[in-house]
Amino acid sequence: MPVITLIRGDGIGPEVVDAAVLVLDALRAGLEWDVVPAGFSASAGELLPAAVRQSFERTGLCLKGPLATPIGTGHASLNVALRKHFELYANLRPISNLPGVESRFSGVDLIIVRENTEGLYSGIEHEIIPGVVESLKIATEKACTRIAEFAFRHAREQKRRQIASVHKANIMKLTDGLFLRCARAVAEKYPELDYREIIVDNACMQLVLNPAQFDVLLLENLYGDIVSDLCAGLVGGLGLVAGANLGETHALFEAVHGTAPDLAGKDQANPTAVLLAGEMLLRHIGQFAAADRLHAALLEVYREGKVLTRDAGGQSGTRAFAQAVLEKL
Ligand code: NAI
Repeated sequence: MPVITLIRGDGIGPEVVDAAVLVLDALRAGLEWDVVPAGFSASAGELLPAAVRQSFERTGLCLKGPLATPIGTGHASLNVALRKHFELYANLRPISNLPGVESRFSGVDLIIVRENTEGLYSGIEHEIIPGVVESLKIATEKACTRIAEFAFRHAREQKRRQIASVHKANIMKLTDGLFLRCARAVAEKYPELDYREIIVDNACMQLVLNPAQFDVLLLENLYGDIVSDLCAGLVGGLGLVAGANLGETHALFEAVHGTAPDLAGKDQANPTAVLLAGEMLLRHIGQFAAADRLHAALLEVYREGKVLTRDAGGQSGTRAFAQAVLEKL
């Protein structure tokens, strides 16, 4: 029986995670949950709480709700700490339309592959003299090659046609230059995949004009973070997009969204993103039939369009939506 570390998270986290667990349990896929304390506030000030670390070390699998990180002050991000500690170097975010959800585009079918361990997320910031601060962007050949290999391997497995490296190597010639050089070297081993490069600002514009021209996007950490939310917006918003954080030995699944303080405690958040994260987890552990059933039930609820949360154009709450998916199962 696979045991999964479960972090319910902050803000809307407990609401959407509980709704998703209700549905995942109904699939009878034999998942067993090891629930560990959520958020910084619950962890007595430890950045990576011992209970979380020990559980995830043991299980190798985690489903996680969003965790709050204070802006401009306070503690560092527990999300980043988890990704670094367990070397979850690849952040994989499939983004596609759901039937019945009105959005800017139809036919969006993108995969975002984001480097998850370095770049400006290295957290190396300091004050040189009052009024002058510095943040270091780190790029290593090892991490750039590793993420490029992941992206190309995944694209081949998923029978994709194209990979675009998104960069700003015209300005950051060394760091983003290294990222591109590593991607080009890996691209040579995959002649069947069309390889292109695009500067990040142009990539953003092209994505909002014509997302269908892209297939798999390969990005360093910060661009990957920003472009993910942009792409979520193309298909109807953050309530609908999930991601996997993958390393050699450990895998963590979560929604792309954060704690949504504006919705917390109101039974309004959309649990779809966490449900899709659960689906990715099921596929990761080889439970394909359960993943397919979950996907079909979700699509049916969207196709019917009777019980949808507000972000997806409906009037229903988190719990009612989960109940509707359960009924389809
Ligand atoms: P956010 O993703 O929490 O919210 C952005 C917008 O999307 C809000 O309008 C929100 O209502 C909406 N939204 C998000 N999830 C939704 C859902 N499930 N259903 C319907 N609408 C949804 O981003 P924000 O406000 O920038 O960040 C809030 C906090 O979350 C910060 O402390 C941030 O550090 C944290 N965060 C955590 C993440 C994680 O744990 N992986 C990822 C992103 C942010």
